[in-house]
Amino acid sequence: SDIEKGTYPHYMLKEIDEQPLVMRKIVQQYQNEQGELTIDSAILDAMNEADRIYIIAAGTSYHAGLVGKQFIEKMAHIPVEVHVSSEFSYNMPLLSKNPLFVFISQSGETADSRGVLVHVKDLGYKALTITNVPGSTLSREADYTLLLHAGPEIAVASTKAYTAQMAVLSILAYVTAQSKGLMVGMDLVKELGIIANSMEVLCDDKEEMEAIAREYLSTTRNCFFIGRALDFYVGLEGALKLKEISYIQAEGFAGGELKHGTIALIEDGTPIIALATQEHVNLSIRGNVKEVVARGANPCIISMKGLETNEDRYVLPVVNDMLTPLISVIPLQLISYYAALHRDCDVDKPRNLAKSVTVE
Ligand code: G6P
Repeated sequence: SDIEKGTYPHYMLKEIDEQPLVMRKIVQQYQNEQGELTIDSAILDAMNEADRIYIIAAGTSYHAGLVGKQFIEKMAHIPVEVHVSSEFSYNMPLLSKNPLFVFISQSGETADSRGVLVHVKDLGYKALTITNVPGSTLSREADYTLLLHAGPEIAVASTKAYTAQMAVLSILAYVTAQSKGLMVGMDLVKELGIIANSMEVLCDDKEEMEAIAREYLSTTRNCFFIGRALDFYVGLEGALKLKEISYIQAEGFAGGELKHGTIALIEDGTPIIALATQEHVNLSIRGNVKEVVARGANPCIISMKGLETNEDRYVLPVVNDMLTPLISVIPLQLISYYAALHRDCDVDKPRNLAKSVTVE
């Protein structure tokens, strides 16, 4: 590949480290001369005409879509559904009168997502693609495109594209809200700056992430991620990262759902990675941790400054509580990376996986 790893042993580690830079690049790319965030007015019109948004994506991009739904609903007050692209046509939802389809795809080439795009264009609907690759199939075939500006992502396990997708979705939600005269109650340029700085702090703490991977994941068969609210979605992505590159069986759960079945799998020493970055669910997620600890689980609580207790394994710096997924995923990416390394896995090219899947 013509993209160099430089001094990095793996593309994945390089791409994790690029995330602060990508955040700053995205803010720059979406700022006008006055320093205000802007989006192409044709896209804003499409957002404002839509009575419902359908986000369509696969894999990591689907996980970014789940977070994006919260941004759009909370900031811009437009209802959003998020669908896995391969399932959309089988379980096609009843569509609203004026739907807007938003395709999220790092590569812009995923066949499952393209299948849905072709179908909804046939039905006469408008589509926006959010992608890292200008001129990609999904970008060309949609009415509008928003670029991620993350630079080429080479490692099969997606890292910087995921945080870039969430950042661009936050900008889309924020600018749409402003165009409707809605109060968002934050300065997103400033908040994304804080995100970039916090990402840097986390990327500088690799020794600690490696220690956590060694402590919890060097011999385990399985691992569970739990969280509530936004932390639930980040847990899904954390589990996917770990599965993809370390081959440890991992699942992400809503904190309250574990007791409805999966808790049966908890044995002595089973690692549970619990995210606790959301103040309104902090007590409940800690309650869930107690439930699994009572069954012998080995808990690794990742919390946020201000919400921490002395049982937490890692405490994240404070960021805006709607944007926590942009930083809470970084330790999960790094922990997965080191778990894969310790288990002698091929980090950048995991077995059975492809970077872009162009078959259905
Ligand atoms: C493949 C990759 C995943 C990715 C998914 C969606 O399965 O291995 O990392 O999340 O496709 O890719 P896209 O390019 O559409 O975001």
